[in-house]
Formats: sequence, structure tokens, C-alpha cells
Amino acid sequence: MRVMKDSIAKALQAFREGRLVGMPTETVYGLAAPIDQPKLVEKIFHLKKRPFFDPLIVHVAHKSQAQALVKEWSSVADALAKQFWPGPLTLVLPKTDQISDKITSGLPTVGLRCPQHPVARELLEKCHAPLAAPSANVFTKTSPTCAADVRAAFDPADVFVLEGGVCDVGIESTIVEVLPHAVCILRPGQITRSQIAAVTEPLGAPLQDLKKQVQAPGQMREHYRPDKPLYSVIASSQEEAKIKLHSQKSLTWIFLPDDAVLAARELYAQFRKASQSQAEICVLMVNPKWLNDETWEAVINRIRKASSEWI
Ligand code: TXA
Ligand code: MG
Repeated sequence: MRVMKDSIAKALQAFREGRLVGMPTETVYGLAAPIDQPKLVEKIFHLKKRPFFDPLIVHVAHKSQAQALVKEWSSVADALAKQFWPGPLTLVLPKTDQISDKITSGLPTVGLRCPQHPVARELLEKCHAPLAAPSANVFTKTSPTCAADVRAAFDPADVFVLEGGVCDVGIESTIVEVLPHAVCILRPGQITRSQIAAVTEPLGAPLQDLKKQVQAPGQMREHYRPDKPLYSVIASSQEEAKIKLHSQKSLTWIFLPDDAVLAARELYAQFRKASQSQAEICVLMVNPKWLNDETWEAVINRIRKASSEWI
């Protein structure tokens, strides 16, 4: 994708005018503000209707910008960044005072991500400051995977949206907390557990269970919700799903491709499309074989949190 020079200039102008920027990334669109503009950072929480206890992740142009924001850049962090940055991986590390407590909701750590999307990269290069950016959706709702989704959610007086096409990954980044002698996956994403472990285990940092950790603040159960109730049914065929569902409600079906990468790419657009139908509920068929397949973990995680019924 060619990055239009004047659109980046317009985005920088939007920051100067006190507006936020809808920033395309390879995962989902973000709602961005430079970390050195506290009023704009606060505006992210207001526009998203996001509670202040849910911290923002910070996007960086390159590794050295990340290193400047943390107390210690460990060999494990370095190896993960080398392998997966730029890309859909967020590293949680102890922060320095350069990151305000507003951004991290008072936590001593910060989530850092170096995105791969050319428009995000260009914006980060030209902006000079790292960008705080959560997904550009209203709190608990479905994340946006194209510019039109962001435009539909926010007033242009508040948010300037950069065009960046349809997001390639389609679901949010894998979040890994880097601990002194272990790593912990706080949110699954396209980069899998095994891929993370393959990098960190040789360095003496095995995967640690989330349960042993304090729950990450943003890991609440209700999330990614479409505008209509989503019923997810574990079934191998539509016939089986209908029997298990046993519902009198009018419904619209969501069928995902039998490939985790493609399913992730389509998931949120499918949620939106189904929500716009006249039906009372959306029904998504979950193939039982996806449940024990690591490559499906992130998609299943999003479906579970988006579902009002899991049958
Ligand atoms: O792919 C992504 O990560 C997208 C794009 C825009 O980069 N961003 C994104 O941000 O998904 P957000 O805010 O929607 O989700 C970030 C999650 C939240 O659940 C938040 O609670 C958690 O990361 N988080 C942020 N900082 C954290 C920290 N220091 N410790 C633990 N969890 C943290
Ligand atoms: Mg989000």
C-alpha cells in the first residue's frame, strides 16, 4: 500500500488541533494520540467510553524507541522483538516515568507494540512521539478492521481517520508479559504460544499460566461484542447446530472459513454484517476440531468473549 504523504500531514495536523487519529495497523485500527499530549490521551478514554482502570498500549516506530520507555530491556524482550517486530506482538515490561500513570492505569508496566502496517509506520516515523492507541471501537464493542468502521463509530470533529485498507490479521495482537524468569500470554493472537515459547524457552523463560498471575485489567469476559446477541454453537454441521440451538428466535448465520488465519481476518466484518440483519440473534457455528487446535486459540478467545450464549 502506498502511503499518501498529505494524509500523514493531515493526521499530524489533527493532533495539533486536539483531534485523535484513526490509525490502521495490520491487526485492527487503533485510536491514536501522542504519549506526550496528556489531553489527547485522556480524550481516548472519553471517546471510547473506556474506564480509566483499563490501560492503553503504546506503539513505537522501532526497538530503540521502545527501549527508552522501559526500566529494563531484557534479553527475552530483545529476542521476541527481533523475531516478531514489526508485527502483531505487544510486550508488557516495567515502565519508566516517561509513560504517565494515566496510560497504564497506575500499573508499573506498559504494553509496547511496533506495528507493521506501512501507514502506521509512516505516522510513527513522522510523529516522533510514541502513540498510545487502543482498538478504535467503543468499549466492549467489536474492533474495527477497515477505515469505514472507525468513521461509523466517531465524529470527524473528534477523529481524523487514515485510510489503510482492510486489516490483514483482523484480530488484536498477542500480548506477552515479560517476567524475570518466565513469560505469560495475557491475550492470545495470531502469534501462537508455541512460537513464543520457541523464542523464550532457550533463554530460560518458559511460558507461565495466566491463572498464577493477577488477571490483566483488560481481560474482562464481555468484549468484542456485536450489536446483536451472538449465540455460538459447537457443531460439525448446520443441522446439528439447529438441533442444539433449539430456538424460536429469528436468526442469521455466521459461517467462518475452516482456516484460522482467514477466519481471523473475516471475523469482525462478519460480526458487523450479521448485526445489521433483521434477525433477532446471530448464530455462529464453531467446529469442534477448532477447540483443541492452537492456531485457533485467538479466534476462539474472541468468539467466546463476544458470545452471549456458548452452546
Ligand atoms: O493489536 C492490537 O493490540 C491493537 C492495535 C490497535 O495495536 N490494540 C489493542 O488495544 O487491541 P486495546 O487497548 O484494545 O487492547 C489492549 C489490551 C487491553 O485489554 C489492556 O487492558 C491490556 O492490553 N493492557 C494494556 N497495558 C497493559 C499492561 N501494562 N498490563 C496488562 N495488560 C495491559
Ligand atoms: Mg480493544
